[in-house]
Amino acid sequence: MKKMIDIDFGSSRYDELVELRYKILLEPLGLKFLDMHRTREAGYLHIGCIESLDDRLVGGLILAPVNDEEIRMMQVAVDTKYQGEGVGRDLVHYAEKRAKEAGYSRLVMHAMLSVVNFYERLGYRQEGEIFEDKGITFARMVKDL
Ligand SMILES: CC(C)(COP(=O)(O)OP(=O)(O)OC[C@H]1O[C@@H](n2cnc3c(N)ncnc32)[C@H](O)[C@@H]1OP(=O)(O)O)[C@@H](O)C(=O)NCCC(=O)NCCS
Repeated sequence: MKKMIDIDFGSSRYDELVELRYKILLEPLGLKFLDMHRTREAGYLHIGCIESLDDRLVGGLILAPVNDEEIRMMQVAVDTKYQGEGVGRDLVHYAEKRAKEAGYSRLVMHAMLSVVNFYERLGYRQEGEIFEDKGITFARMVKDL
């Protein structure tokens, strides 16, 4: 069984989440996770999905406050072995619940074009022009909570 959890900044679960984000998102693009990134994540919300059989983190994401109304969802990552089983969808739903409970009314994100459909199924809509960053094309996506 899988369960969604809040992860404390600086905990060993947080280290596990950094590792997973690196393996799934950064390493394939040849990017590094720099220690300076940690410092700015202290004020973010960190969310994970645990497989209770072996207590392993199989997915996660981070939420970065933009202003009093908006929070940005970033680095949604599901372990390769667990993709396509509903973990991503459940993580996003849980993140929306936590963002709403924390007082935010709008969730915003930059989605790679390859995952735009995944977010559209979850009620996100594209806003504005697509754009490129470091050779990757992104769409701005938003959802009112
Ligand atoms: C993209 C990702 C987060 C999706 O999570 P997941 O657990 O594999 O997806 P789910 O099983 O929850 O899928 C939910 C639905 O979206 C669909 N879906 C999954 N990935 C999709 C994609 N890339 N494009 C379109 N639809 C997708 C599923 O088929 C499923 O449809 P259903 O409801 O009809 O069954 C995950 O596959 C992942 O980490 N991929 C690699 C990293 C990545 O690209 N992250 C996004 C960074 S912006």
